[in-house]
Amino acid sequence: MLSKLSEGAYRSALAGELRLSDEGNEVSLAGWVNTRRNLGGLLFIDLRDRSGICQLRVGEEVKIPDIRTEYLIHVEGKVERKPVPNKKLPSGEIEVAVTHIEVISKSEQPPFILLDETDALEETRLKYRYLDLRRPIMASRLRLRAKALRAARECLDELAFLEVETPILNLATPEGARDYLVPSRTKKGRFYALPQSPQLFKQLLMVGGIERYYQVARCFRDEDLRADRQPEFTQIDVECSFLSQEEILEIGESLVKRMFKAAEGVDLPSFPRLRYWEAMDTYGSDKPDLRYGLKLTVLDALKPLSSFPGNEEKAVVRGLKVPGYAGKASRKKLDELTLEARKNGLSGPLFLFKREKGELTGSGLKFLSGEGKAFLQKEAGLMDGDALFLLLGPRRKADFALGSVRTLLGRELRLTEGRPHAPLWVIDFPMFVYDEKEGRYVAEHHPFTRPRDEDLVYLDTDPEKVLAYAYDVVIDGYEAGGGTLRIYDPVLQDRIFRLMGLSEEEVRTRFGWFVDAFKYAAPPHGGFALGLDRLVMLMSHTDNIRDVIAFPKNLLAVDPMSGAPGEASEEALGDLAIKVVHPDVN
Ligand code: AMO
Repeated sequence: MLSKLSEGAYRSALAGELRLSDEGNEVSLAGWVNTRRNLGGLLFIDLRDRSGICQLRVGEEVKIPDIRTEYLIHVEGKVERKPVPNKKLPSGEIEVAVTHIEVISKSEQPPFILLDETDALEETRLKYRYLDLRRPIMASRLRLRAKALRAARECLDELAFLEVETPILNLATPEGARDYLVPSRTKKGRFYALPQSPQLFKQLLMVGGIERYYQVARCFRDEDLRADRQPEFTQIDVECSFLSQEEILEIGESLVKRMFKAAEGVDLPSFPRLRYWEAMDTYGSDKPDLRYGLKLTVLDALKPLSSFPGNEEKAVVRGLKVPGYAGKASRKKLDELTLEARKNGLSGPLFLFKREKGELTGSGLKFLSGEGKAFLQKEAGLMDGDALFLLLGPRRKADFALGSVRTLLGRELRLTEGRPHAPLWVIDFPMFVYDEKEGRYVAEHHPFTRPRDEDLVYLDTDPEKVLAYAYDVVIDGYEAGGGTLRIYDPVLQDRIFRLMGLSEEEVRTRFGWFVDAFKYAAPPHGGFALGLDRLVMLMSHTDNIRDVIAFPKNLLAVDPMSGAPGEASEEALGDLAIKVVHPDVN
């Protein structure tokens, strides 16, 4: 049995692993030419393999073939101490004095320079991803990802979770995004949906008595893409029976901690908990970035003391004090922040107040009574030099709008720089949100989420007041995972469907196969899913999810390398009884 796979016939060592302790050893190496420099009869090559880089020195006495960047070469030589160490390389104290050099494979000139620092367009990097992956930083991110995943498996294994695979070709699941559909050849005119998550199957595994399940699950969602979203992504998906929300949060927390420790080497602090409305009113977000303060102030008591436009019964008043910002808060800045707030739900103005030399100034001053001015200064704790942004609106919209201003200012003031990760749980999400377009309540998570026992009394009278056993893991302002306890009582499930305006008929056709299972004594259960790509993105300190996926799609869900999605042949379409009426010509 091989205890350690040998490096093969081409090499006796790895370039990036050579150290001073190898001095005097004869080695053979194989790798790509990272860079080459000709210095008066001496050729210096930085040789790169999967372990890193080491410098080769090739003297005039060696027969040198034509060698260019990215050629794959094989060399033999002796490890020598470098007269002047290169502090930037782990192997920088040595170099290999080459005695023999040959080319294994030639390379065309790469379309961009394959160094960590690159100004190549991302589209070009994605088109030639196999070259992009040669940049050490890319390989190190994949290694980090593998470490995180291994730690997750170890952790869940230790907790007696069983890894189970669930199908990819499914009936649609109710996660709320658009499905990727796959036409059926055997049942013409019918479609499978690719899983948006294994949600229903993992619940059925609980009905099936598996009790503790996990899966590294590929999920597919056809939604508008962003820097932290891919159409196909990976979840570490977990479900368990007979555990309380508290116990499930503990499992989730130790899992996340274990992954960060193994991959990034950091110890995360214990996760504070914020209730949904607390997070919204304090940070203007259900995924607040706790790496900095800059909290919102609830200023509802200003309502009777002011005549702000939009001061309606249902409006709330929120303020955001920015210490020392009065000098920077120009008209132009206010316009920019107003625009951001508008994009995030604000319909009225964003007011700016400043306190300078003991005086409060600002365009909104005229709407405040004397008492209102005094209250505002006191409640927000305004000091000389401080600025305060203020807005009104319905609670959720006002919170979100001012939260988006907080995020922009946090970025502008570089408040996250050098800060350690800030994880937390957001709990007690509302069970329903009112969908204005559809004119009905829809589930904030999914319709199988269990309402909190103490809120069941509001189900019929005030559904918006009902909170759920639902929780998200938030890290540095990103939703890194989420889950819920599930309904296991068919009577309650029926009530929830009715409340959401789903008829018995609709329920039967959409999830009849699923809800039927709950007639056979389903256990109390719940779980969560962590977004692996997002976690690795955070561990890698990048804000681009594509950086941590070997072969990602671009923002149009296209793979620039293969060109997927592609056209199907007439024959294939014929087999599926599909006719393309309006093909996209681009
Ligand atoms: P949810 O939809 O919140 O929950 O997804 C869980 C986590 O998956 C990640 N995620 C994504 N990552 C990259 N690209 C995407 N398009 C994308 N969409 C989601 C996020 C998110 O927190 N079945 C439930 C879980 C449960 O209730 O157990 C679910 O899928 O990090």
